[in-house]
Amino acid sequence: MSKLLTVRDLVVQVPARGTRIIDGVNFSLDAGQTLGLVGESGCGKSMTCYAVARALPRGIAQTAGTISLKGIAQKNGRAQQPSVAMIFQDPTSSLNPVHTIGYYLETALYRHQGLKGKDAQLEAMRLLERVGIDRAKNRLRAYPHQFSGGMNQRVMIAHALAARPKLLIADEPTTALDVTTQAQILHLIEELRAETGMALLIVSHDLGVIARLADRAAVMYCGKIVETAPVGDLLERAAHPYARALINCMPTIDPDDLEPPIPIPGTVPLLDNLPAGCYYHPRCSRASDRCTAGFPAPANVGPLHEAACHHPVSA
Ligand SMILES: Nc1ncnc2c1ncn2[C@@H]1O[C@H](COP(=O)(O)OP(=O)(O)O)[C@@H](O)[C@H]1O
Ligand SMILES: [Mg+2]
Repeated sequence: MSKLLTVRDLVVQVPARGTRIIDGVNFSLDAGQTLGLVGESGCGKSMTCYAVARALPRGIAQTAGTISLKGIAQKNGRAQQPSVAMIFQDPTSSLNPVHTIGYYLETALYRHQGLKGKDAQLEAMRLLERVGIDRAKNRLRAYPHQFSGGMNQRVMIAHALAARPKLLIADEPTTALDVTTQAQILHLIEELRAETGMALLIVSHDLGVIARLADRAAVMYCGKIVETAPVGDLLERAAHPYARALINCMPTIDPDDLEPPIPIPGTVPLLDNLPAGCYYHPRCSRASDRCTAGFPAPANVGPLHEAACHHPVSA
């Protein structure tokens, strides 16, 4: 399988203050594969996505490392940079309220595929139908406030598809939606991924979402990846105490599982005031003196399974 995306030693900072939001992140994604990024709020999942999409907010910059997207060979032998599209957590506020859905989609179709007029309108209708919005012709004249959150997320997905992406980045795509809509949107993303063969970088603080969609998962804490594994291995034998703790605080609706979720003690430290050594050690029951000395390097704990911990939990 060829690597579509390779991220090496990525550092993202607020240069004015020197704060490191992303601190030496490494991961790669094969064409057509799904990688899930998981971790508590504020650990750098969105910034990783913005960096990959080359859309970091003003005042925040990539200061080290590389992000390479493997070109797609064209007929003339030249490589073309594959397109990347992104969908966000809050679809309604991501859409411009003064433009119709039709304007939004047709502008993207012109930009990415050169379609105009009737051709753009027909393709916009086809995309709306594909993402499960009926009466597409009428809907093109609607504004985002006339749609529910779930429908607006479908519009965002249609907009992403207009770019014919090789990589779709979905940053908490269902967090703002109710559970039934959440299930429908996840199903739609799964279907489209299989249909188009695009790779997917999906971000969620919800391990259930990652478990459902991803082939591999990466667990982030304070701007670093602390564990990566095939998703089943992570859920069954997470080695980093933080990853274990995240799994243990997942609620379950299994009537035979009477264990209540166990909260993680303490809070995520501020990026301006990180503890020495492993950033997780003040909250970790396995921590020793060694954990205050230096940040542990990632090490193999199983096939395609790495954890950055001096005292990994064994299976
Ligand atoms: N505009 C900004 N300026 C400075 N720091 C920011 C800005 N936006 C986010 N951050 C900080 O970057 C860190 C990572 O944020 P983010 O990637 O949004 O986390 P996540 O998506 O995992 O919840 C957080 O600690 C947050 O406070
Ligand atoms: Mg986020």
